[in-house]
Parts: sequence; structure tokens; C-alpha cells
Amino acid sequence: MPNKIYSVEDCRLIELPKIINHSGNLTFVESGRHLPYEFRRVYYMYDIPGGAERGGHAHKECHEFLVAISGSFDVQVDDGRSKRKFHLNRSHHGLYICPAMWRTLDNFSSGAMCLVFSSDLYDEKDYWRNYADFIADITADDRGVQE
Ligand code: TYD
Repeated sequence: MPNKIYSVEDCRLIELPKIINHSGNLTFVESGRHLPYEFRRVYYMYDIPGGAERGGHAHKECHEFLVAISGSFDVQVDDGRSKRKFHLNRSHHGLYICPAMWRTLDNFSSGAMCLVFSSDLYDEKDYWRNYADFIADITADDRGVQE
């Protein structure tokens, strides 16, 4: 469990630098500078079929930042009490998602690509993949019961 109790209000859009050039634009991300954490892993989702839904999990410790590097999609975040929905459609904007946040990605446009900057290396033990387990742990945390 993360030490802090996070809420959907901690999730926010972050604007990245954009170097505009008549030959094309350029955006960069520096670890610890543009994001509120240092990132250790980058992964991306692509060739996403129409109607697909991704995510459907929460991380215990991982902070993540999602960018629609191409096309667009929706991200719903859920802290077990409230939900917020974001539409990502710009290569120089991204969504910061704090730990303990159930996320669902859908409404992918044709050719959409999702680039993710993650604070940790891949570790399956960092996942909640069952919503009921996530809610049970978050609720226990609300009562001050730490595992
Ligand atoms: P998952 O995180 O469930 O993807 P999504 O966010 O789209 O639901 O990961 C899908 C599969 O890929 C799962 O079997 C774990 C594996 N995976 C890795 O091996 N390394 C990684 O860095 C990531 C993100 C996933």
C-alpha cells in the first residue's frame, strides 16, 4: 500500500515543452523535471483494435504518466470514492496518474498510440488486477488499517 492516501484530484494533465518548427514539432520529457517523480521505465501501446479497453488495474506504488503520442483515447481514473474522466489527444499533454488509482482506457481512435512513463520497473506484485480487492484494500486504508 502507498503511504499516502491519494484521490482522483491528485491526477492531473501536465503540459510538456513543445518546440514548434516548420519541419515538425518536438516534445521532450526529462525525468524528475517535467513529471512529479523520476521515471525508470517507458512502454507504449499500439495496434489497438477498435472498441478495445485497456488498463483495468491499479498500481500500489507506481506513478505513471500517459501521453496520446498519436490519435486519442479516454482515461477514467477511480480512487474507490470518486471517478474522473480525461480525453487525451495531444502529443505534448499527458495525464499524471498517482498510485492506488484504478484506471480504464477506452475510446481509442484509429492508429492511437499510448506512451507511458512509469516510476518503477515492471513488477506484477505492484498491481491490483481485481477491483473488489482494490476497494477492500483502499477501504481498509481509509480506516487506518495498514497491512
Ligand atoms: P498491462 O499492464 O495489464 O497492460 P494494460 O495497461 O494495457 O492493461 O500489461 C499487459 C501485459 O504485458 C501483462 O501480461 C504484463 C506485461 N507487461 C510487461 O511484461 N512489462 C511491462 O512493462 C508492462 C507494462 C506490461
